[in-house]
Parts: sequence; structure tokens; C-alpha cells
Amino acid sequence: MTAADPVKVMKQEVGRAAASRVQSGSIVGLGTGSTTAFAIQFLGERLKSGDLKDIKGVPTSFQASVLAKQYGIPLTTLDEIEKIDIAIDGADEVDPQKNLIKGGGAAHTREKIVDSLADLFIVVVDSSKLVEKLGTTFPLPLEVLALAISPVTRAVEKLGGQPELRMAIKKDGPVITDQGNMIIDVKFTAIDNPAELEKTLNNIPGVLDNGLFVGLADLILVGEVKDGQPSVREI
Ligand code: A5P
Repeated sequence: MTAADPVKVMKQEVGRAAASRVQSGSIVGLGTGSTTAFAIQFLGERLKSGDLKDIKGVPTSFQASVLAKQYGIPLTTLDEIEKIDIAIDGADEVDPQKNLIKGGGAAHTREKIVDSLADLFIVVVDSSKLVEKLGTTFPLPLEVLALAISPVTRAVEKLGGQPELRMAIKKDGPVITDQGNMIIDVKFTAIDNPAELEKTLNNIPGVLDNGLFVGLADLILVGEVKDGQPSVREI
């Protein structure tokens, strides 16, 4: 038997911890990514066992809606509901102020819409995602209309960023988002003022949204493995 992958174990544990916070009757924002996928799975298991009843999910991506259907979670849309009780989503970087970089899965535009509407937004990460300053380990994704790729690239370079069009794997050419747009990943040396940069980037014509989530997260659940034992810490 091979030893369990510690990163996978951390993701499973935070996914389980987040799913356990959902109460019956809730509208739940369903995030995107490999960590949230475990939360969706555990929500489905709670529904199946009868421990949880009458929830509806609002998916942040095609991936989230496929997983929700697979695990028997009924879905709804933003047109049908007035508020979201709780959203569970992953992140690529988390700073000490609970600001985030998201969009490693190209879903940050829909994620920001859903997560920002939640009364309680829980972020699920493993400990490798914690950083002192955003932008130090992960480039910042921008979702951009295809026709605006060249001007947005130039505008980002003027701001001191190093832009790179995200290329697909197992498909020739660029990544196309669930909304039919493209992703430019921008490397900044470090992001000193996330709130200001979020606004500046979204002000470039052709940018739909960027992956900075400032002041949105309420609770960070961090999966850790200490002395071979998985645990979940709250920030
Ligand atoms: C999707 O676009 C992202 O915002 C994800 O939530 C983020 O990349 C975290 O994904 P993992 O949980 O797979 O690391």
C-alpha cells in the first residue's frame, strides 16, 4: 500500500471541515478547484446520509455544476435567489489580511460574483497557499475579452507586470474560460496595495475581472499535516 499524498489529505480535511459548517435549508456557493471539489463531495455525502437537508448550490463554474450533479446537490441560479448563505471556495494565495489571489482554474470572475454575495465566505486551502505578500508565488490572472488581448497586454506592462497568455493543456492554443474569454497571467514582483491594483486592473477596457479578492473572505480553513497527522486551522 502506498502512503497517502499529504497535500491530498490536507485538501480532503479542509473540504470536510468546510462542508460540515453548512446548515440545512442553506443556499451554498460552490467554488472551483481541487480543494472545493472535496467540499462538494462531502456536502453530497451529508445530503445522502440525511444529515443535511434542503440545500441548493450556486455553482461558480462548469466544474462545480458537474460535481454538484454527480453528488446529488440541487442547483439554482442568481436569478432565483436573493442571497447566498455560505460560499466555500479555494484560493491560490492567502495573505495575513485574508486577501486572496484566485483564478488558477480560470474561474475567478464567476467566483467573485458568487463569493461576494455570501453572508459567510469560507476559503479552503492547504498551508502552502499562505504568503506574507500577494503575488510572490503565483501570477495574478485576468479574464480578458479575446479582441482586447493586445491592448490589455500593453496596459499591464505599463503597470510593471509581466503578462503571459495562459495556454491550454491537451488543447492547442489558449485557455478559453467558461464564459468564452481568455486569461492573461500577470507576474508582479509583489503586490503592495491589492485593493488599489484590483481597481486599476479592472479599469482597463477589455478586462472582465482579475483574481484579487480583497476584503471578501470571512474565514480561512487551512489544512496542515503535523507529525503525519492532518489538522485544520482557522484564520
Ligand atoms: C479557480 O479559478 C481558482 O480560483 C481556485 O479556487 C483556486 O485555483 C484553488 O484551486 P485548488 O484548490 O485546486 O488549489
